[in-house]
Amino acid sequence: MQFIGANELREQFLKFFESKEHLRMESFPLVPKNDNSLLLINAGMAPLKPYFTGIQTPPSKRVTTCQKCIRTGDIENVGKTSRHGTFFEMLGNFSFGDYFKNEIIPWSWEFVTQVLKLPKDKLYVTIYLEDDEAYDIWTSKTDIDPNRIFRLGKDDNFWEVGTVGPCGPCTEIHFDRGVDVASVTNVEDFVAASDADRIVEFWNLVFIQFDKQEDGSYAPLKNKNIDTGMGLERIATIMQGVDNIFEIDTVKNILNRVSKLSGVEYGKDSNIDVSLRIITDHVKAVTMLISDGVQPSNEGRGYVLRRLLRRAARHGRLLGIKGLFLKEVVDAVIENYGGSYTQLIENKEYITKIITLEEERFNETIDAGMNILSGYIAELEEAGAKVLSGEKAFKLYDTYGFPIELTEEILEEKEMAVDSDEFKKEMEAQRERARSARGETSYMGSEEVPINKVKADVLTEFVGYTDTVATGKVVILATDEEFVEELSVGNKGYILTDKTPFYAEMGGQIGDTGIIEGQNGSALVYNTKKNVGGKTIHYVEVKTGTIKNGDVVTLNVDKARRGSICKNHTATHMLQAALKEIVGSHIHQAGSYVDNERLRFDFTHFQGLTVEEIEKVEDLVNEKIMEVDSVSTELMTIDEAKASGATALFDEKYGDKVRVVAAGEFSKELCGGTHVSNVGEIGFFKIISETGVAAGIRRIEALTGRNAIRYMEEKQRLLKEACATLKCNEKDILKKINSQGSELKEKDKEIAELKAKLTSGAEDDILNSARDIAGVKVVAYGLEGVDGNALRDLADKIRSKMNSGVVILLSNGGDKVNLVAMSSKDVLANGIHCGKIIKEVAAVVGGGGGGRPDMAQAGGKNPSNISKAIEVAYEVVENLVK
Ligand code: ALA
Repeated sequence: MQFIGANELREQFLKFFESKEHLRMESFPLVPKNDNSLLLINAGMAPLKPYFTGIQTPPSKRVTTCQKCIRTGDIENVGKTSRHGTFFEMLGNFSFGDYFKNEIIPWSWEFVTQVLKLPKDKLYVTIYLEDDEAYDIWTSKTDIDPNRIFRLGKDDNFWEVGTVGPCGPCTEIHFDRGVDVASVTNVEDFVAASDADRIVEFWNLVFIQFDKQEDGSYAPLKNKNIDTGMGLERIATIMQGVDNIFEIDTVKNILNRVSKLSGVEYGKDSNIDVSLRIITDHVKAVTMLISDGVQPSNEGRGYVLRRLLRRAARHGRLLGIKGLFLKEVVDAVIENYGGSYTQLIENKEYITKIITLEEERFNETIDAGMNILSGYIAELEEAGAKVLSGEKAFKLYDTYGFPIELTEEILEEKEMAVDSDEFKKEMEAQRERARSARGETSYMGSEEVPINKVKADVLTEFVGYTDTVATGKVVILATDEEFVEELSVGNKGYILTDKTPFYAEMGGQIGDTGIIEGQNGSALVYNTKKNVGGKTIHYVEVKTGTIKNGDVVTLNVDKARRGSICKNHTATHMLQAALKEIVGSHIHQAGSYVDNERLRFDFTHFQGLTVEEIEKVEDLVNEKIMEVDSVSTELMTIDEAKASGATALFDEKYGDKVRVVAAGEFSKELCGGTHVSNVGEIGFFKIISETGVAAGIRRIEALTGRNAIRYMEEKQRLLKEACATLKCNEKDILKKINSQGSELKEKDKEIAELKAKLTSGAEDDILNSARDIAGVKVVAYGLEGVDGNALRDLADKIRSKMNSGVVILLSNGGDKVNLVAMSSKDVLANGIHCGKIIKEVAAVVGGGGGGRPDMAQAGGKNPSNISKAIEVAYEVVENLVK
């Protein structure tokens, strides 16, 4: 068999289907668009679902892709088996109501036997039990030996995901890896050989002919579809004669880099091999995720990314790698995949930076986790216990990201262990929480609400780039539950019209609001959004009368609000251009949000902007506003747009023609949003904050037009009020604040000096009021406003001045009392005990306390009893010395 490299295989597949008139589309990003039912793209057909169900019109009825996919369901098995990986590529060809079984079966055979030249005596085919049609086509249109076709049941040869949605029987092509073995001749032997991994399935051809209903029945689809999937890594193992996905050329190159970095050899020790494979797989996945715009976080996709990255970093530690190393592995990933996924090369600096920051953070986590674990170990030692509770181990793992294996290893060194049953229980509970949080209910999941079932042929023309008022016909009305014929006063629901000036929320720009007026009623449009099929949906509440299907209505966008949105949107483009010019060309947009109040722009940069940079950015934008250049929009092909130097979001996928928005010569960006027609309309631009939102991501918030002016007016007003309060001119305000500051400092000093004088004056008074009780010098004395520390110092002084005796001081602190008692050592023989004295005295002022025989302190809550407490003090001493 000929050796074919993975990159070449990918190309051969796509070329083959291009020769069968398929449109080759680039892989969609790993992050699903408009699809809440999926966390990450997990199959070639996943991003194409709207084409299968007919809610969106495909760019061609025949499409072929090599789709990036991630599945993390079996993450624990990665590296331990020959087949598991999180990131993989799925080769596929798709028919949306075009060709069907008659074409795909002979084509697949042609590809497998003539392009890949796989020997026919090594191939088997399985079909669905009842699918005679497939059997007839295989036997009449290909030269497969009919004895090599087996029928399998629903578990194997019927493809459906979740409870509802497009599905159908499938036929699979398998390869026999057995050497010098006879072919299997019956279905039982076939299944046994598959279970033993001798026979491997590598291409699944799904005949999407049903739409599974909620009641479990299979409704035939009007248009029959084809969805095929061939794991690139899987077919590469076959073409390269290896039996492990980590040993195919591209993947092995990465693994070799890891092995070089760690100085360990592959294939010598199974534990080491597992670590090498995990790092290889996970860094590949992480590189792809970051390139597609995912950032590490504690939830959703960001959490998947963080978890993969941390697992890779930890296995690096297990291999003995010191310091940061993931970026070297990223290099190897990009060397092997950059040719097919050019964004990896464009985003290399960004990917590397994010990975390194996260790796650094993880290393800190490990150090912090070590501290906590040491605390737990000390507790165990103290209690003479040997088993760390599963709950604590889980907390370390979940909250601090501290790997359980590391906890176990460290405990082992101390002859301790984790309560692993309890830990597993906690893990299971966590998985359950994650599953429900993801909301991955059914494969069609969130698309089930009526407005998401609107068919592709319902057109909603958008005229809002030029108009804010238009006349349209109501074509669909719906509530959350069902399509309806009318909505009446008080009803909330959704309206679709054949034409609309309302902009539906997209690309970070908020949806329009306004009014829809019909012959018999009017509705407030409180939001406008697109459904999963890309149709503009007006979210309405009917205010008067009734709106009926078929009504001709006037659609009025709230013009002032739209105007403010346009100002903010154009200013966002100008801000990006200014950042690139002032701060650096590495700035990439990482998210943006534009409404009528303000704009928010997130971008990649690794430290906060300086005050000077912010001022320069602001100045540049305002300079450009004052140049009053017009804003133009132009439709062009993506290549023309790139050639014109337009900025595009790197994880965006654009259709055939793209819209390029140019603000004079200053900024040129791909954008579907609404804009001012001349930058001068923005009037004034003001940055109000610059903050960090995640590692490597900064956020600027800014205002434009009236909002910016109002903001400055507010500052001006504040300044005026401050001047009035401080009784000074604006230009003198800083001088005034500074001089008041120094005055205050001066006064504080004076107060402190006076207090010291007062207490030293008090010293004599205190000493003079000492009494002699049975030969012991005793003084009890009340003061005002002396805090605990000063009171103790004072008592100390009195005690030394007295030489021999006991001093009890109480101080009135407003709502509390400070007490201290001190004695010289010699009088202890006379029965003096400061602890006992203070206990009784404190009780009089509503407090408690105690202490040593020669020194005790306390606090009380009742200053009005101080004089009584003084008398009690003398009495207590008297009783003690008797
Ligand atoms: N959608 C099919 C699969 O993922 C081809 O196997």
